[in-house]
Amino acid sequence: ARRKIVAGNWKMNKTPSEAVALVEELKPLVKSEDVDVVFCVPAIDIIPVVEATKGTNIKVGAENMYYEESGAFTGEISPAMLTDAGVEYVVLGHSERREYFAETDETVNKKMLKAFEHGLTPIMCCGETLEQREQGVTMDFIRQQVKIGFLNVTAEQAKKAVIAYEPIWAIGTGKTASTAQAQEVCADIRKCIAEVYDEATAAAVRIQYGGSVNADTAADLFSQNDIDGGLVGGASLKADFGKIVNYK
Ligand code: 13P
Repeated sequence: ARRKIVAGNWKMNKTPSEAVALVEELKPLVKSEDVDVVFCVPAIDIIPVVEATKGTNIKVGAENMYYEESGAFTGEISPAMLTDAGVEYVVLGHSERREYFAETDETVNKKMLKAFEHGLTPIMCCGETLEQREQGVTMDFIRQQVKIGFLNVTAEQAKKAVIAYEPIWAIGTGKTASTAQAQEVCADIRKCIAEVYDEATAAAVRIQYGGSVNADTAADLFSQNDIDGGLVGGASLKADFGKIVNYK
């Protein structure tokens, strides 16, 4: 069986000192034997958060990275900088990065390949807009995001990947997708992975749901066959995150 993975995406919140205070608050609340717990934090918070989570079950993730090794790319963070700092996961292609920072399926793919090359586990985000859902093109759109995102990724690498299904209309809106809607798309993403690779790869890849997950909705969502946990925004900045991790 796949191990559940619950990740917090802090987005652009928490200064370094606030970040350490939040880790101290959440540390006792997010203990878990059977769920992988990841805090994805702003780049400047990575070093203090890695330090503050030492000896705990919390793993640290970045919210983005660049796909080159090093050089004249002012303002960017390289994969080696992340691994050297103790980062194990990296969120790639979040809808906010696609919308505000010109991230495309092609740049996401380059980042996926680099992340694997450096032993980082990508949490690759996909998800439709409200307009796309209403037009009935949700799965076509997501299949394209997944297929391009995983281009040239080997089956062995893909097995280790995490895919986060985040319907854009559910992000930060308080409108969680219904459990049935979330399960339907996550099952379809798994089918897409089976088509691109094989059944074994599809069975191994972990698929999260994200979008207004809270302490009340987590249990139902995370108990679905194809939902292996969540990528949590707002609620990951509060004590509620402990309840989400310990949803059972
Ligand atoms: P919210 O949980 O705040 O809706 O954010 C979801 C998200 O975008 C996580 O990456």
